[in-house]
Amino acid sequence: MTVKHPASYQWLAEHYDEIFSFRSWMAPARERILESILLRVRTGCDLGCGTASTAIELARDGVRMYAVDLSAVMCRKAKEKVARAGVPVTVLRADMRTFRLPTPVDLVTCEFDAINHVPLKGDLVRVCKSVARALNPGGHFFFDVNHEPAFADVWPLTWWIDRPSVAVTMHGGYDKRRARGWVEMEGFVREGKLWRRHHDYIEEVCWTVAEIRAALTAAGFDRIKIWDAMKFLHHDKGLKRGHRSFCLARRAV
Ligand SMILES: C[S@@+](CC[C@H](N)C(=O)[O-])C[C@H]1O[C@@H](n2cnc3c(N)ncnc32)[C@H](O)[C@@H]1O
Repeated sequence: MTVKHPASYQWLAEHYDEIFSFRSWMAPARERILESILLRVRTGCDLGCGTASTAIELARDGVRMYAVDLSAVMCRKAKEKVARAGVPVTVLRADMRTFRLPTPVDLVTCEFDAINHVPLKGDLVRVCKSVARALNPGGHFFFDVNHEPAFADVWPLTWWIDRPSVAVTMHGGYDKRRARGWVEMEGFVREGKLWRRHHDYIEEVCWTVAEIRAALTAAGFDRIKIWDAMKFLHHDKGLKRGHRSFCLARRAV
């Protein structure tokens, strides 16, 4: 499989857990949504896994996991974290649009808007078809997704994240014509008494709830449930209705 080097998540991957420590807010939503399913899940795969936080959490619950990411640096960080955790997680470098697993699984997850990172609007159905191929019949696909109002309301703001060894400023916008949000990230990483400056640029493509339902249906999913994230993420003061959804779908039997 040919894997293109992603332009982003290189220096950012080195410091991802420190910068985005607030991503743990998502875990309670996953736990509530998957509550009735997890008891039957033996094997799983986290797509766009980042540093493998979700894969490690699920592995600690007894699920034998794969963790898939396109960024080589993320995969290295994920492997290091998995080794420290001592849990059964196999890290694979692959593109979520084309990935193939050695064996099918009961659950595929894709969290913290990783699915929005694909380059084209039409890539959603490619991801859904690859996920359907990776699942056992009756297996589930769980993901969260950013929508247009989040890109239009939140991404044009300027954010400042200050941690002991890294500081980041983020400023972006929304290109309605291309249905894409973008963010410029300037990072300052502490090196002794000095700070080294880094830059990263991330784009996300957006879909409506109707487009997500259509892509899942075309890929062979049924029992599609979509919740507004406001139902679960009360502590996120910037979040408004329509910004983000959680989705759960079953690969038809
Ligand atoms: C916002 S991070 C989310 C990471 C992780 N899911 C989490 O919850 O912290 C997005 C991740 O998606 C990965 N990614 C972007 N495009 C991808 C693709 N086409 N296939 C697989 N992974 C991709 C990035 O490398 C990055 O690790």
